[in-house]
Amino acid sequence: MERWAAFRDEFPVARRRTYLISASLGPLSRPSRRLAEEHLDLWERLGPEELWFEHGFPRLEECRSSFARLIGAGPHEIAIVPSVSSGLSSVASCLDFDLRPKVVLSAMDFPTNHHVWLAQHRRGARLDVAPSSDGIGVEAGELTGRIDGSTAIVNLNRVLYESSWIMDVPPVVEAAHRHGALVVLDDFHGTGIVPLDVHRLEVDFLLSGALKWLCGGQGIAFLYVREGLIESLEPVVVGWFGTQNPFGFGRSELHFRSDARRFESGTYALPQAWTASGGMELILEAGVDSIRAHSQSLTAEVIRRADALGLDVLSPRAPERRGGLVRLRMPGGRAGAQRILHALLERDVVLDARGDALRISPHFFNDVTDIDRCFTELQRLL
Ligand SMILES: Cc1ncc(COP(=O)(O)O)c(C=O)c1O
Repeated sequence: MERWAAFRDEFPVARRRTYLISASLGPLSRPSRRLAEEHLDLWERLGPEELWFEHGFPRLEECRSSFARLIGAGPHEIAIVPSVSSGLSSVASCLDFDLRPKVVLSAMDFPTNHHVWLAQHRRGARLDVAPSSDGIGVEAGELTGRIDGSTAIVNLNRVLYESSWIMDVPPVVEAAHRHGALVVLDDFHGTGIVPLDVHRLEVDFLLSGALKWLCGGQGIAFLYVREGLIESLEPVVVGWFGTQNPFGFGRSELHFRSDARRFESGTYALPQAWTASGGMELILEAGVDSIRAHSQSLTAEVIRRADALGLDVLSPRAPERRGGLVRLRMPGGRAGAQRILHALLERDVVLDARGDALRISPHFFNDVTDIDRCFTELQRLL
């Protein structure tokens, strides 16, 4: 417990508010603030030569390495991208839909996934969307049954953003690879909260961002590309930082880097590398396995308290199937959920709402007193 209390101290917001929404925005930690200030001090004192080469590029490399450690990859398999959407668009730009037009995805994937693949309609892509029977999960069989020789890629969200259902990834990867299709995992709701080993899972791509469970701030995301695949891919979304010699300033040829950084494009959102490295350091120090155990006990407590109030739980009850959040239906539909959400905010209980439900997402700096306070206030408002 003392260990978790020490992590709690690193997040000033935890003293002032009941912060239970890391699924949307992880809070600012003391290390990230210290590092953000370090960046500002450097920027105030230095010119670009020193700021970028002596500090910025090493800081970006540290981010790639930390992210690689979190997912069990090598740093050379990681590209820094501005957002999950833009990383996914770069991946899509490599594919040829003439021979393989089908993209398999699920009805519960985050909407940006659908938008990226819908935009590929113009290039010949056709979406095949696996439904959900209960609005909570999507069975692997719904995806595997759609994969065939015309499938270019399967888009999977490892942990569903609304319900926190954990997908059964291995059978989908097996079916995709058996048919010669690729697999891209959107892991925004997995990395940092539900352990994974990307090599063991054998997915081809993985995307995640710093701003939620990694507590690293906005404007920086990561794309993993499997080592054996990198050099066969030529993105159409490109830029000088994806080339072998950006500071040669050559303009007549396009020589991609041989590592995953061929997916990087223009000038980086450098300040975010400082905040992201602070967040990821804390997650690595806590350890994702330990975070997972702590998170499971807090989400179990959320479910216990919700049951006591007779609320509908719209997340998996089985702990091994449930990611970091619990979704609870509120009385009064969407308007009821909004009313309760805003009343809770006024009482310094910070959550978010999706449709007619609230999402409660405790993280490693939360403890059971937060759940207790959340439900004491919630009970008054129902
Ligand atoms: C699973 C998932 N993928 C992608 C996104 C959007 O990512 P970005 O804004 O970095 O494109 C979100 C945002 O909440 C998400 O939950």
